Amino acid sequence: MNKALLVSDAAYFRVDYEINPYMHTEVQPDNAAAVVEHLNIVVAHRAAGRRIEYVPSAPECPDMVFTANAAVVRGDRAVLGAPPPERKAEMPYFQDWLINHDFDVVDAPYAFSGQGDALACGDLLLAGYGQRTDRRMHAVLARELSYEVVPLQTVSPRWYDLDLAVAVVEPGRALAYCPEALDEPSRRRLRGLGMDLIEVSVEEASRFALNLISDGVTVTMTKGASRLAAALRTRGLRVVELDTTELAKGGGGVRCTALTLDNPLPSGW
Ligand code: ARG
Repeated sequence: MNKALLVSDAAYFRVDYEINPYMHTEVQPDNAAAVVEHLNIVVAHRAAGRRIEYVPSAPECPDMVFTANAAVVRGDRAVLGAPPPERKAEMPYFQDWLINHDFDVVDAPYAFSGQGDALACGDLLLAGYGQRTDRRMHAVLARELSYEVVPLQTVSPRWYDLDLAVAVVEPGRALAYCPEALDEPSRRRLRGLGMDLIEVSVEEASRFALNLISDGVTVTMTKGASRLAAALRTRGLRVVELDTTELAKGGGGVRCTALTLDNPLPSGW
């Protein structure tokens, strides 16, 4: 899994509004640099043997480069995201792409940040709530995608999506997380899973260190989180560190720019 990814591009990436604490309309990305940064991420995915699917960005959608929020996909089923009003215009593009590629697409009846708040880990779905995802979505995800949901509540808008606070490093074996980003019951739930847990500091996590993509062999992550990178290398993982300076102005990192298309279905589905 995490070997087939849907990406867009940064052609129209800019900060038109502030829907997370990292966005400031007076700090605009350098567009040419953002395009290169994004291309380098795509090149790194390809070098890691990942298949890339592409949906072109639209001029009226300044955040469309962050495809992770569009949906959660498992097998041939997709549950669409239900983003804040500022990002609603993106949804028809993603919906059309998924339908044209033969996915069964289900609408989200409540606020839902897509894969931003949904981290697949085998048959488990680490599912965020408390910021952009209504907790009632968890039952929808369990029913539509046949996941066992592990609810995790992030404690501040700084962790507006769970994929800034928790990362699946080796499915079923290892997770990385920032303890301060989760409430105590959620921390207990994570500890109860019986997987190795790598702790990440608030400092590295707020630089989007946890916003990584791992297929269990290669980890693609942002530059500038040397402690997490070292911990991952100690586990024998190949770590590729990439510049995300421009994307960070929109409040996103590496994982935000890719929607996983190959989460496997449960056996017997
Ligand atoms: N500016 C975007 C937003 O606030 C960033 C989304 C990043 N996505 C993510 N999966 N964390 O919606």
